[in-house]
Amino acid sequence: DIKAQVEQLIGQMTVAEKIGQMSQCMASDFAFGGDIEAESADVLVEQGRTGSILGAFNSSRVFELQKTAVEKSRLGIPLMFNADVIHGFQTIFPVPLAWSCSWDIEAIREACAIAAKEATATGITYNHAPMVDIARDARWGRVVEGSGEDPYLGSLIARAQVEGFQGASLFDKETLIACLKHFIAYGASESGRDYNTVDISEWMLRNLYLPPFQAGLEAGAASVMNAFNFYQGIPIAASEFILKDLLRDELGFDGILISDYGAVEEIYIHGVAKDRSEAARLSLNATMDIEMVSQTYEQFLPQLVADGKIQEQQLDDAVRRILTYKYQIGIMDDPFRYVRPDKEVEYHFNENHLQASRELAQKSIVLLKNEAQTLPLHVAESSARIAVIGPFGDSKDLLGPWQFSKYGADTVTLLEGLQAKGIQEDRLLYSEGSKVNEPIAGGIERALEVAGHADVILLALGENSEMSGEAASRMNITIPEPQQQLAEAIVELAKQSGKAVVLVLTNGRPLVLDWYEQHMDSIVETWFLGSQAGHAIADVLVGDYNPSAKLTMSFPKQLGQVPIYYNHFNTGRPVTAENEHEKYISKYLDGPNDPLYPFGYGLSYSQFEYSEITLDRQAMQRTESITATIQVTNTSSVSGEEIVQLYIQDLYGSTVRPVKELKGFQKVTLAGGETAQVQFEITEEMLKYCNSRLQWVADIGEFKVYIGSNAKAVQTAEFELIEK
Ligand code: IFM
Repeated sequence: DIKAQVEQLIGQMTVAEKIGQMSQCMASDFAFGGDIEAESADVLVEQGRTGSILGAFNSSRVFELQKTAVEKSRLGIPLMFNADVIHGFQTIFPVPLAWSCSWDIEAIREACAIAAKEATATGITYNHAPMVDIARDARWGRVVEGSGEDPYLGSLIARAQVEGFQGASLFDKETLIACLKHFIAYGASESGRDYNTVDISEWMLRNLYLPPFQAGLEAGAASVMNAFNFYQGIPIAASEFILKDLLRDELGFDGILISDYGAVEEIYIHGVAKDRSEAARLSLNATMDIEMVSQTYEQFLPQLVADGKIQEQQLDDAVRRILTYKYQIGIMDDPFRYVRPDKEVEYHFNENHLQASRELAQKSIVLLKNEAQTLPLHVAESSARIAVIGPFGDSKDLLGPWQFSKYGADTVTLLEGLQAKGIQEDRLLYSEGSKVNEPIAGGIERALEVAGHADVILLALGENSEMSGEAASRMNITIPEPQQQLAEAIVELAKQSGKAVVLVLTNGRPLVLDWYEQHMDSIVETWFLGSQAGHAIADVLVGDYNPSAKLTMSFPKQLGQVPIYYNHFNTGRPVTAENEHEKYISKYLDGPNDPLYPFGYGLSYSQFEYSEITLDRQAMQRTESITATIQVTNTSSVSGEEIVQLYIQDLYGSTVRPVKELKGFQKVTLAGGETAQVQFEITEEMLKYCNSRLQWVADIGEFKVYIGSNAKAVQTAEFELIEK
């Protein structure tokens, strides 16, 4: 009986040992903050001063530290091993923003299950993922780690990730503790600057930022990590309102609450605690169980207990939660059960995992433009010569941020992916042209020379993996200047010689692509696709895979539009086709309100047409439902997949409502000329939102249904929700 065992162990623990369980240190010698000398993890473990370890990436290190914990610490309590396994462990999958564009919930769940299998074989037991922050500001580097701007899709993906990592049982040797992060509203950082101020209403918090966390908790996530930002002026690591009242009491979370890296100490740096001792006290009062890396718990909680400023009972509550999971994952009885070098050999980077990565990568590629059917390149039937130009033409920097794979050198580049298609050497040319952020002397000239011999130019440009992720906000979300210059020179050459130019993008966030939209024949958004990136991109470029992905973040036309998102609110002065030239309406003087590419947008080599919507009834009571039906036809001769999207708008509510909200989607695969009938059942649940009294309600009244290929290209119909 785990409960009794936990209580018995707590009964044997000193205050210091309890606090040890509540402290996490790095596997390598690392001190938080400036000039403090690091104490080695081995010493901390031996002295029972840490209960979990961050960033032990090989099984021998895990084994060594676990052995010390079990054999040398007084109580021999085994350690948990934590890591950020965000999008794969050794086999790297597309970054989460990319895989969200697949809208393939099952494939994402499978990717997480594979990541768990690979990571647990090395001894990792606790994952700092999934990141489920809704993000609307592409300047924020961490948009790459999430599922984009929509809470409905974000919730489905949050749930799938938790299920993938945690499997059916945490006791299983191939499952990981999942940690929902960052609770909450981190994505609302002002001006997209990381760690910056967040100031949003509770109404917004509940409508937009909370749903993916709720979904992840419903899926049984065992852990939650706080966000670095403050809420209503209180750093969340210290916020009883957010952590205790909302997360624990209202949402019923009884798992492990872990601080983000140094976040407890940052309560003091924020200026909300007079010293680090007070920071520790505030965080404990907010029910923070584990402090990551900064050591305020260790340094100050003993005295705070002695002075009666906190109760030992509070430590017991935290330790109880931590030990319960240590028992549940089986390490208390079998501390080395996750260290399985034989399984590392079997699982890491194995063929099946690479195949799954390649398939998800294919599904994550978004075709943004394809003028005159420039793509696919019919390499087998034509003798056209292809020039691959740009810093991502033969780059292995295709894994993206947050990966620690030792197989980085095996990443398949774009050039290698094309070579694997059997294109003869003299038909496949390459020139780097420019570095990502600096010019190469003579690089543009050499690129022009090479491109001059080709019929089609693939321009492989973008951001390197350091340019998104944590602490990687950008003011100008454009393709860096040296690459822009390369692109301009190539476009000039193409114009004179009638060559087609295809932009192949590598990047971790929506970029401003207006110039490229005007000058490229085709644009392929590949994000960071992981270990098999080059193969997946080549599969799409030559037509072995027909792209089907749809954007999960809007792409701005101009930087000044950011933050930009499809589910924006009605204003009192909305812009319409009729009034767009008037002055006193909600618009810009110097450009449109609309994004360049809307949420849900993505092309295919097939063409799809939508019929009008039919509803089986015009009104429904709360307990009833309405079925919306639409016909989708593949009017091309190429078989393809379409993600059919359902949006609903509450035409008038008790609060201002978004102009539309995603409420469902279906994937249909259609042969050339084929038509499918797609049906969505609309229920009251889909109409609910958080009102100004913070109640979850559906309003009686009229609603508009939108079904289409993206948030802009939609058919419409209307219905009414009525009382009996
Ligand atoms: O898990 C991460 C978090 O998302 C950001 N700060 C560092 C943590 C540990 O690596």
